[in-house]
Amino acid sequence: MANVPMDAVQSTLTMSTKPHPQPTTVRQLVLWGERQLREAGVTFGHGTDNALDESAWLVGSAIGVAPADLESQLDRPLNASHLAGARHIIEMRIRTRKPAAYLLREAWFAGLRFYVDERVIVPRSLIGEFVLEEFQPWIDAGRVRHALDLCTGSGCIAVAVARAFPQAQVDAADISAEALEVARINIGAHGLEARVRPIQSDLFGALGGERYDLIVSNPPYVAAGELASLPAEYRHEPELALASGADGLEAAARILAQAEDHLTSGGILVVEVGNSREALELRFPLVPFVWLTTRSGDESVFLMDQAELVRQRATLRKPLEIPDCR
Ligand SMILES: C[S@@+](CC[C@H](N)C(=O)[O-])C[C@H]1O[C@@H](n2cnc3c(N)ncnc32)[C@H](O)[C@@H]1O
Repeated sequence: MANVPMDAVQSTLTMSTKPHPQPTTVRQLVLWGERQLREAGVTFGHGTDNALDESAWLVGSAIGVAPADLESQLDRPLNASHLAGARHIIEMRIRTRKPAAYLLREAWFAGLRFYVDERVIVPRSLIGEFVLEEFQPWIDAGRVRHALDLCTGSGCIAVAVARAFPQAQVDAADISAEALEVARINIGAHGLEARVRPIQSDLFGALGGERYDLIVSNPPYVAAGELASLPAEYRHEPELALASGADGLEAAARILAQAEDHLTSGGILVVEVGNSREALELRFPLVPFVWLTTRSGDESVFLMDQAELVRQRATLRKPLEIPDCR
């Protein structure tokens, strides 16, 4: 999973090119950085999924070149300040284990650039891919007039939805006032103040009787046991954005129980649950979740329409029975 637009750099920097101990071109510097990151055992997954792309992103930023433009600059000679800047940022990445997105204060999502800092998780939701496809064939794109991004964090999904559905008003809800400050920065940067409304809300709590044609959510979904074993990079992210009870389903289960009351007839709910998919299917074995497939074959985002939520109401609203082990 990679969000930073680096595809061209990957294919241009062939593995036969050797990293240079004293890089003199951008290409040599990217390969030098790749080796440093790889040998240091850095974890990827916050915008890029490998050492070469991560190095290219960091080096590009140090020399002032956007990821998508880096390929044409690979043979450019380096000056001393570019070299020092790139070495510094790569060393910071290794020493602090902070995701590159926090060091650079930028993230890429659905082809768009976002401001990020430690108040929000680094955007990487698989939902981005489905937003770009306008959730086809599941909803008539022309009928999406009112959308909700629940658990909006940086506002990345809300902004991408507003871009994909230009006629829609979008509510961007999060319980965290700090996250909403970041969302506001991104809504402003994309010129969407008139169409994307940040709202502080505990899930649907502050949304009153609002109904939506589309509800998307990348809620916290990491189970307690998994949280403890995550690599150092994840510990720089807000725990509120990751942790969701013993089985990772606290937020998703509440969303499933309440979404019906906030969807229009024919509306759809789309929720990412990551590694908690298995726990969700165990909790609701008879509920027919539709699992969407990403280009890379991942299936951890489910879709359910309003009619199905109504049919499953009794099951989805039944309190979880926890066996008494005394
Ligand atoms: C996994 S992050 C997703 C952020 C963003 N949508 C994205 O994909 O990058 C989950 C977000 O849910 C928020 N959150 C956690 N509990 C919440 C709750 N009860 N109600 C609303 N938002 C909540 C967190 O503050 C965090 O911003």
